[in-house]
Amino acid sequence: MMAGRGVDLTAAGGPARHIPVMLSEVLAALEPKDGEVFVDGTFGAGGYTRAILDAARCQVIAIDRDPDAIAGASVLEERFPGRLHAILGCFADMDGIVERLGIEAVDGVALDLGVSSMQLDQAERGFSFMQEGPLDMRMGKEGPTAADVVNLLPERELAQLVAVLGEEKRARAIARAIVAHRDEQPILSTLELADIVARVLGRKHDDTKHPATRTFQALRLYVNRELDELATGLGAAERLLKADGRLVVVTFHSLEDRIAKRFFASRSTPPPRGSRHLPEKGDAVLAPSFRLLNRRPLSPSKDEIRANPRARSARLRAGVRTAAPAHALDLADLGLPRLAM
Ligand SMILES: C[S@@+](CC[C@H](N)C(=O)[O-])C[C@H]1O[C@@H](n2cnc3c(N)ncnc32)[C@H](O)[C@@H]1O
Repeated sequence: MMAGRGVDLTAAGGPARHIPVMLSEVLAALEPKDGEVFVDGTFGAGGYTRAILDAARCQVIAIDRDPDAIAGASVLEERFPGRLHAILGCFADMDGIVERLGIEAVDGVALDLGVSSMQLDQAERGFSFMQEGPLDMRMGKEGPTAADVVNLLPERELAQLVAVLGEEKRARAIARAIVAHRDEQPILSTLELADIVARVLGRKHDDTKHPATRTFQALRLYVNRELDELATGLGAAERLLKADGRLVVVTFHSLEDRIAKRFFASRSTPPPRGSRHLPEKGDAVLAPSFRLLNRRPLSPSKDEIRANPRARSARLRAGVRTAAPAHALDLADLGLPRLAM
């Protein structure tokens, strides 16, 4: 199968179906050169990793929290001997992962957030409200499942989770319906939950989105602690990048994009007068640690969206590391939603 911009992903291990999103824009921002080292924090089907390794005689440290994704990396490890290190782990830990490989700093980091098409399309992973499967949603196959959350969380907390992480206006009604249902029998499957949500929300004629989209997004973000991972991962990338190193982040919804936007904004401008970040006497001056590559986020072209509708909500933000020290990471400042639970 040929996927996006002539990249043949079948060679990346088995029947790969994930089409890399905004690949040419990601490569243009990363500008791989011979001898450089990159972190691909979201290996997935290896679309970015493979393109980076093809672009120059460089190395890639590819991280994914999904053991299935890392198992699929062996084909690329053989194809690029000694140039690919595929590591099972979370990108929030990328500085530790890179350090354990004996590497001090890197020339580029790419993050392509969310789930891969393989995860979404495999009913047994439980991410899809379109296919019957266990209500799982764990990218890393460990820890509490979405079914645990839906069946065990108190109603108020469930409502808050769906409201904040799903940006769902009818969260309280959905939480009430979930609790009424689970009082009769536990909710164990994706379609069971999708049906409960659809009955609360109904479906409008002009709706292009399934009514359960927001509830499923909320559960997925919560189960995988995705927003914490993103904020912490951005901080780790900032510490790990050399001066002139490139950071590229592709987000897929407003909560993710807000974190990426605030991260780059807070690090690409000098602190305003009177800011609480102004240095105390004797502190280092908090100079910008990034120069933005684009003032506004890039979106996929119409052609790309036509060829790959899953790319439609993608937003790409990128910056080049300056020589200034990394800033302290303040999760609240980055717009990480607070859940009182
Ligand atoms: C959208 S896919 C990446 C696709 C990839 N760019 C490609 O071209 O094939 C996202 C991948 O990132 C992984 N992932 C998501 N969050 C992660 C995290 N915090 N740490 C490590 N991997 C993560 C998922 O398991 C999934 O395989």
